[in-house]
Amino acid sequence: MPTGVRARCGAAAPPAWHAGAVTSRARATVVLRPMTDDELAAYVPWAIDNLAAEVARARGVTAAQARALAQSRVDAVLPGGRPRPGEAFPLAIVDGAGPTARRHGTILAGLDRSLGPVRLYLYDLVIDAPARRRGLGRAAMVALEAFAAARGVHTIALNVFGHNAVAEALYRSLGYVAEHTAMAKRLGAP
Ligand SMILES: CC(C)(COP(=O)(O)OP(=O)(O)OC[C@H]1O[C@@H](n2cnc3c(N)ncnc32)[C@H](O)[C@@H]1OP(=O)(O)O)[C@@H](O)C(=O)NCCC(=O)NCCS
Repeated sequence: MPTGVRARCGAAAPPAWHAGAVTSRARATVVLRPMTDDELAAYVPWAIDNLAAEVARARGVTAAQARALAQSRVDAVLPGGRPRPGEAFPLAIVDGAGPTARRHGTILAGLDRSLGPVRLYLYDLVIDAPARRRGLGRAAMVALEAFAAARGVHTIALNVFGHNAVAEALYRSLGYVAEHTAMAKRLGAP
């Protein structure tokens, strides 16, 4: 599942998974922590809707077709709306620790051991719209590298839709390169 997720609720935050705050080029500082149950419950339908919209845009299919694909992709990572422990990681991106910490976005990632060297697949990264362009996306990706390294990960992998130049610029600026290029030509278009 490539791309995107948002909208949320309250509930006390559990301890940060990695407490090491990370500062980006833009001086933003973030901590990644597990989503609360309430956050996850809000995230899953949002993720399906968002992915469906991206798929419909990228592939030119109907909303129903896009939604069916999005549902199956999200179900594969979060069966029944829950992560498999130690395999999938729905994370909140927060600007610190303690009661004043605010959530500014979300990450969904999962481990893939099928090739031998462990890969962490980034299914989704979203910074909430009002918090964008402050370096939080970059800081979250740097924090994810530390998260991955702590789990013996060899490579972080992700997909970007062809229309998402902003995300592609972020990933390329962090050293991500294409392993393959998915190409398509829509027939019948003028
Ligand atoms: C992509 C996204 C996570 C970036 O988060 P962000 O906090 O705004 O990004 P940052 O402020 O850390 O910027 C990091 C880099 O991203 C790129 N970037 C971010 N916003 C950009 C914009 N509006 N136009 C062009 N480049 C942009 C730049 O390369 C930027 O580096 P720079 O500031 O040195 O120029 C955010 O735009 C988002 O949530 N988008 C919607 C969801 C999405 O597309 N997720 C990616 C799925 S693959």
